[in-house]
Amino acid sequence: MLATYTIIISMSLIIIASFLSYWFQSYFFDQKKEQFLDKSYMIQGIAMKYMERDGDATSQQVNDIITIISKYIKSDIWLTDSMGYVYAVSNKDHKEFMGKQVFGEELDKLRQGHTFEITGPYAGAFDKTVRVYGTPIINESGSFKGSIILYNSIDEISSPLKRVYEIIWISAIFAIIFSCIVIYYFSQKIIIKPLAEINSVARKISNGDVNKRVYLKSNDEIGELAQTFNFMADSVEKNEKNRREFISNVSHEIRSPITSIKGFIGGILDGVIPEEKEKYYLSIAYEEIQRLTRLVNDLLDMSAIEAGEFSLKIIKVDINEIIRLTVIKNETKIKEKRACVDVCFEEDNLFVAGDQDRLVQVITNLLDNSIKYVNEGGKIKISSKTKGRKAFISVFNDGPQIAEEDLLHIWDRFYKADKARTVKDSTGLGLAIVRNIITQLQEDIWVENKDKGVYFTFTLMKVE
Ligand SMILES: Nc1ncnc2c1ncn2[C@@H]1O[C@H](COP(=O)(O)OP(=O)(O)OP(=O)(O)O)[C@@H](O)[C@H]1O
Ligand SMILES: [Mg+2]
Repeated sequence: MLATYTIIISMSLIIIASFLSYWFQSYFFDQKKEQFLDKSYMIQGIAMKYMERDGDATSQQVNDIITIISKYIKSDIWLTDSMGYVYAVSNKDHKEFMGKQVFGEELDKLRQGHTFEITGPYAGAFDKTVRVYGTPIINESGSFKGSIILYNSIDEISSPLKRVYEIIWISAIFAIIFSCIVIYYFSQKIIIKPLAEINSVARKISNGDVNKRVYLKSNDEIGELAQTFNFMADSVEKNEKNRREFISNVSHEIRSPITSIKGFIGGILDGVIPEEKEKYYLSIAYEEIQRLTRLVNDLLDMSAIEAGEFSLKIIKVDINEIIRLTVIKNETKIKEKRACVDVCFEEDNLFVAGDQDRLVQVITNLLDNSIKYVNEGGKIKISSKTKGRKAFISVFNDGPQIAEEDLLHIWDRFYKADKARTVKDSTGLGLAIVRNIITQLQEDIWVENKDKGVYFTFTLMKVE
């Protein structure tokens, strides 16, 4: 980026400097020309007099006068007659041109009363490049009488120009260096350092240092980027924490049944457990294995639901029928708790849009909780009703209410509110699965402490 900026600025300044140099050169030459032409009028008078043999000007005098003027205007002078033959020169070194024709097509221009200027070697006269200005001499009656030629070696004219060029180019170089320093400083401060910091933090996070953050306070896009980056880092950290917790929960949940199964079977094999008690301990081991199976199934369901692998088969299902069947399936457990189940429907059938198996799982998990947490001999109530296009299904049980601080967390995986009281057969996955399914159906579920118990209510879309 720095290189690009530097190149752009250098190119712009070089273009400006070249343009200025060119403009200044043409301005300078124009000025010079005007100055020369202006001076050439001084010579006209004397030249005219000599040409018209009017007065007593001799060739020598003419030569002397133009020599003086040439010194004054710092430029060599030739005078030619109307045919283009040189008859006076200001510089003694040019005597050889006396009496020679020095014009090409310029003579025609002069005859028509125009001036001319040439830059280059002139009339085969000089090795070096010269700048030549020619003006016609025209008498009062308007006839062409000859011409004045002024010339300078280009080096002489250019020497003041060189100074100006130097100033222009030195300024340009300084401007380039200065702007590069300024760009470097600001880009370091505004872009490069902050980006380098974000970069290094990103690298640390990717190496597992997920609690690293970028500390940048600026009100620009980089500041915004840093903020967004930190949000991303927060969520990475949260995910990482969840993942660790999840793994430790799962391992814990799996280890405890395995430990007890191992203990019982080991005891039987070693003969520590008396033969008449073997069956009893085997049945406990069998229960533990069932618990493990349930846990693994729940985990598999859970990860499939979270990964979105469950493409829900949304069809028209009768939720009342699902409730009836689920209650019947759980009869033994209900009886064990001597609970009384109250099922309350507006009509026999209530058709909703949903996935049959997943809705069975929802009702099963909710009813399972109710049975688990209902008071001995308490009441469980399941009801379904409709309001507009929605169906509301709620599962109530009287029993201990859920503490305020737990209300938000009971939906989390492995969360068990009352750890001491919670029954052994519990993993804390039930509600997480329920909520995942309901969310995938794009419906709502919520919990309320009411009527000395707990209500779980969820919505479904009614189908006619
Ligand atoms: N009907 C209820 N009454 C009181 N507390 C409840 C009720 N339902 C759930 N909870 C609380 O919410 C927690 C989470 O419930 P969830 O169903 O997810 O797990 P669990 O029942 O403990 O285990 P799992 O269902 O996986 O066997 C429970 O541990 C319990 O503390
Ligand atoms: Mg449960």
